[in-house]
Amino acid sequence: MYRTHHCGAIRLANTAEQVTLSGWVSRTRDKGFMVWIDLRDRYGITQLVLDQERCSADLLEAARNLGRETVIQVTGRVIERDAKNASMPTGEVEVLVAELNVLNAAKLPPFTIEDQTDGGDELRMKYRYLDIRRNPVKQNLIFRHKVSMLVRNYLSDQGFLEVETPYLIKSTPEGARDFVVPSRMNAGQFYALPQSPQTFKQLLMVGGLDKYFQLVKCFRDEDLRADRQPEFTQIDCEMSFITQEDILNTFEGLTAHLLKAIHGIDSKPFPRMSYDEAMERYGNDKPDIRFGMELSRLNALAQHRDFEVFNSAEYVVGIAVPKAASFTRKEIDALIDWVKRPQIGAKGMVYVRYNDDGSLKSSVDKFYSEEDLKAWAEVTGAQPGDLICVLSGELAATRAQMSALRMELASRLNLRDPKVFAPLWVVDFPLLEKDEESGRYHAMHHPFTAPKPADIELLDTDPSAVRANAYDLVLNGNEIGGGSIRIHDRPTQELMFKYLGFSPEEARSQFGFLMDAFEYGAPPHGGIAFGLDRLVAILGGAETIRDFIAFPKNNSGRDVMIDAPATIDQAQLDELHLQLKPLQS
Ligand code: AMO
Repeated sequence: MYRTHHCGAIRLANTAEQVTLSGWVSRTRDKGFMVWIDLRDRYGITQLVLDQERCSADLLEAARNLGRETVIQVTGRVIERDAKNASMPTGEVEVLVAELNVLNAAKLPPFTIEDQTDGGDELRMKYRYLDIRRNPVKQNLIFRHKVSMLVRNYLSDQGFLEVETPYLIKSTPEGARDFVVPSRMNAGQFYALPQSPQTFKQLLMVGGLDKYFQLVKCFRDEDLRADRQPEFTQIDCEMSFITQEDILNTFEGLTAHLLKAIHGIDSKPFPRMSYDEAMERYGNDKPDIRFGMELSRLNALAQHRDFEVFNSAEYVVGIAVPKAASFTRKEIDALIDWVKRPQIGAKGMVYVRYNDDGSLKSSVDKFYSEEDLKAWAEVTGAQPGDLICVLSGELAATRAQMSALRMELASRLNLRDPKVFAPLWVVDFPLLEKDEESGRYHAMHHPFTAPKPADIELLDTDPSAVRANAYDLVLNGNEIGGGSIRIHDRPTQELMFKYLGFSPEEARSQFGFLMDAFEYGAPPHGGIAFGLDRLVAILGGAETIRDFIAFPKNNSGRDVMIDAPATIDQAQLDELHLQLKPLQS
C-alpha cells in the first residue's frame, strides 16, 4: 500500500495516528539537528519532520539529501505542530517520520514548482508535466473538469444524449482551413479533421435522436490568438422540433446554471441585442456590456465645418471615456500612437477634454467652437471630467478601430472586472457576408443556416439584407457560443449553395449525403456550440485559453514538448503515397 492518506487530508483529529503518505518533495529545510520536508501531492502539502532525538542518524541523513521533486513514501506518526500555519489546511499538524522510501529520484526541475515560478512560457510548455504540478495550472484543470461535469450533468438531465461523431471525415466548412490526414488505403485521398461535427449532428436529428450533445475536439487551421487554439473543445448541441426561442431558453438555462453553481450569480434573463444594434452601439458583434463608452455617430455635428478629415469621412464616431479628461498630454499621445499601430490602423484621433469646470478643449479647436463640442458631449453622454475620443473614416474599419480602442481603454481603466459576468445574446445575424476582394458572398455562420422566412425573397435582390435565424452567446466581450436554426429541406439547401457560388456538382459531391438525408424526413432542427476552452477560461476569470488546456499548442501551432508537427520518414511518405516538394529557402 502506497498511502493511507493524501497529503492534503491530515488534521488535528488524526493526532497520534500512524499514517503512510506518498508524494513529491516540494522543499526541505535543514536546521542541522532537525529537517522539515514539505511533501506534495494533488491534494495538498503535509509537513514532515525528522530530528536527532527521535529519528536515527541514517534516516536524518537520508532526509537531508532528498532533492526537490524526488518521489518518496513515508510512514510516521501525526503530531501537533508547535508553530502552526493557519494558511494551509494541514497547518496544525506534521508527521514525525519513522520510515522513508525513495520511490523515484528526480533531476533538478528547470524551473521552480511554485505558484509564482521563475519559468518562462516556452520552458513551462516544454516541461508541461512539471508545470501541471504547480497549483495555478492544476487548479485550472480541476476547474475545467468541474465545468465539464456540470455541463454533462445538466444536459443529460434535460434529456440530451452524448453521441460521439467521427474525427476522420470530409471537410465541413466553418470558415477556417482544414487539417487533412492522408489515407494509406486510398491513394491520393485525404480525410479532413472536423472543424466541428456540424453535418453529423444534423444527421443525428434526421436519425431521430431529438436532443444531442457532445464535448468534442474540433480542428481549425487558422491564425492563433489568446482565445484560439488549432484544436479546441466544443460543447456541441442540436435539438429537433424547436424554434430559435427554444434554443435560446435552453442554453440560457445551461449558462445561468453554470454561473449560479460556480459563482453563485443569478444572471437570468440574459439581455438580447440584434447584430445591427451591437454594431451600431459597440462597433462589434461581441460587445462587452460591463461598461458604457458606447459609440455615438457624430457625422451630423462634426461634418460641414472646415475640417476636411471629417468632411471626407463616411463615419465620424465618438466615445466618452469616463474620468479621463485628466489624462496627460503624454498619455493621450500614447493613445494616439496606439490607434495608429498597423494592427488597429486608424489615421489619427481627435480628442476633447471636458474639464471638471465645464469648459471643453479639443485638439481641433481651430474648427469647432465650444458650443460644437458641447453638442458632441451631449450625444456621447460625456460628463465633466470625461475625455471624448473621436475617430473617422470608412464605416466598417472605423467601427472596428473604435471598438478596439473602447476595449483597450476599458482594460486600462480597470472596467473589465473578471468577477462581473455579463452574458448577452446577439441575434438576427446577416445570413451572408460579402467578400470585398472576390465580390462573392459567403455564409456568415455556415451554409446550413436558415434565412429568416420573412427575408427569403430578398435573396435575389439584396443578399446582404437577408437576416438569419442565427445567434451568438457573448460573455464579457467574448463569443463563447454560436448557432442557428438549420435548413432542413433539399431545395432550400441547394438554393443556399447556389447563392454561395457552388455549382450543383460541387454541392452534390461535397454535401450530397446531407441533402439526400433531407429527403428522408428531416425534422426542423437547430443548435448551438459553445467553445468549452473559452467558457472555462472566462468563468475562471481569464481570457487566455491555453492556461486551461493540459497540453496546449504555442502561437505557431507547435507542441514544443513533443516537438510536433514533425517530418516523417520516407517509408511512411511512400506508404501514404505522398511526395514532398523541396522546401523553398
Ligand atoms: P462556431 O464556428 O461559431 O460554430 O464555433 C462555436 C464556438 O467555438 C469556439 N471556437 C474556438 N475556440 C477556441 N479556439 C478556436 N480556434 C475556436 N473556434 C471557435 C467559439 C465559438 O463560439 N458548428 C457551429 C455551431 C452550430 O451552428 O451549432 C460552429 O462550430 O467559442
